[in-house]
Amino acid sequence: MRKTPKEYAEFIRQRVSATPKIGIVLGSGLGELGEKVENPIFVPYRDLPDFPVSTAPGHVGQFIFGTLGGKSVVCMQGRLHYYEGHALSDILLPVRVMRLLGVETLILTNAAGGINPSFSVGDIMLISDHINFMGVNPLVGPNDDTFGCRFPDMSFAYAPKLRELAKACAEETGTALQEGVYLACSGPSYETPAEIRAFRTLGADAVGMSTVPEVIAANHCGMQVLAFSLISNMAAGILKQKLTEEEVLEAGRKKGAEMQALIQKIIEKLS
Ligand code: HPA
Repeated sequence: MRKTPKEYAEFIRQRVSATPKIGIVLGSGLGELGEKVENPIFVPYRDLPDFPVSTAPGHVGQFIFGTLGGKSVVCMQGRLHYYEGHALSDILLPVRVMRLLGVETLILTNAAGGINPSFSVGDIMLISDHINFMGVNPLVGPNDDTFGCRFPDMSFAYAPKLRELAKACAEETGTALQEGVYLACSGPSYETPAEIRAFRTLGADAVGMSTVPEVIAANHCGMQVLAFSLISNMAAGILKQKLTEEEVLEAGRKKGAEMQALIQKIIEKLS
């Protein structure tokens, strides 16, 4: 049976003495940053009793504890997606485990389809806000007051100060940064061109199948959040071509290093 976040945190604490304040969730094709972690200690999800396991392509499925940009961090190399059949309460679980281990700042990455016509494949988008179009919310159910309140505010879901820091770091590293609204769908089918036209009208700049549940969970338990999308493809109907999973992973291989360098710089500068 699934254990509680507290039990998993305890289990990890018995194996790892690190107390990271920074957590990183690595998206599709973007897991490589995990390899940059110095003095890594790996905790595969499968070693945690009955912990949900990621099955998505390009997601290894482990926590990595170590040092990045001179700071103690924990990376989730392999995230859980709603489309894999995970309950949203399971997607919330690793975020709460990281919180219990001391994480105060959560940095997330994902691969996303570009909706904003001024975007190009390979662009990095700083997420300024989101639209939850998944039709579900990870906090549905009894509220655990030890983590946060029943009706958490989402006005500053993507911490303005961290976004400013990200922009300053992007200037330093010479990284062109787009900024925009991420809309999350459940997937696993990609969107139709009609859906993408509708999402554009709603104010979305990019579309994907992750991140939003974790960001809601992180805000609920008082974490500061920063998130980036790698535009791995233009969303359905924008270019007159089919979407493939391969192009999503390919974008990570091509532009992942630039995103990694930016995140490392941000971590260095985080106070
Ligand atoms: N749609 C949804 N999710 C995605 C896409 C997309 O076009 N690209 C990468 N993840």
